Amino acid sequence: MQPKHPQESHTILTDLVLPSETNPLNNLFGGELLARMDRAASIAARRHSRRIVVTASVNHVAFKKMIPLGSVVTVEAKLSRAFKSSMEVVIDVWIEDRESGLRSKANDAIYTFVAVDDSGMPVPVPAIEPETEIEKERYDAALRRKQLSLVLAGKLKPSEATELKALFED
Ligand SMILES: CC(C)(COP(=O)(O)OP(=O)(O)OC[C@H]1O[C@@H](n2cnc3c(N)ncnc32)[C@H](O)[C@@H]1OP(=O)(O)O)[C@@H](O)C(=O)NCCC(=O)NCCS
Repeated sequence: MQPKHPQESHTILTDLVLPSETNPLNNLFGGELLARMDRAASIAARRHSRRIVVTASVNHVAFKKMIPLGSVVTVEAKLSRAFKSSMEVVIDVWIEDRESGLRSKANDAIYTFVAVDDSGMPVPVPAIEPETEIEKERYDAALRRKQLSLVLAGKLKPSEATELKALFED
């Protein structure tokens, strides 16, 4: 399989915050944002693999800023790294100021997807070739995050998490 560039999976979803999607403070529900991020990230994973993809884990979510009713919210998702059948997708969430149109970062998250066949069995995906500096940084850190996610899920022994152990060694 030919490797692909992160840009080939780049996915942008822009939508409004409606009253039915808010909490009593009139800000976007966390669960609604998780769903929007899941949707954008799954499209990115599908574009990369051209396969059915399922969410395997949500590795990191930071709700940094409240997103008020009526906001225009843009969710950007891009693959940072692909392993055998799993893919790490990095998501950035932006809101734009109504008057100036300036964008500010509201949230970010990292999800893992797995490509599967029609019976739900994992299948291989193309590798990723990062190009920009930020893509290279995200690529390099992805194995560490994968190991952490597997340790937390009870699927990898901490003693086998070589990348994590290396963090604490000189
Ligand atoms: C995700 C799923 C396909 C993994 O199946 P599995 O039997 O654990 O398969 P494997 O152990 O072979 O793992 C497949 C890949 O997923 C990765 N993986 C599994 N669990 C993971 C986790 N918690 N974090 C990160 N990666 C994970 C494995 O490391 C492996 O990656 P690799 O092939 O790139 O090396 C399976 O657990 C599943 O179908 N889950 C439900 C998915 C779903 O319904 N999502 C929607 C949520 S409602």
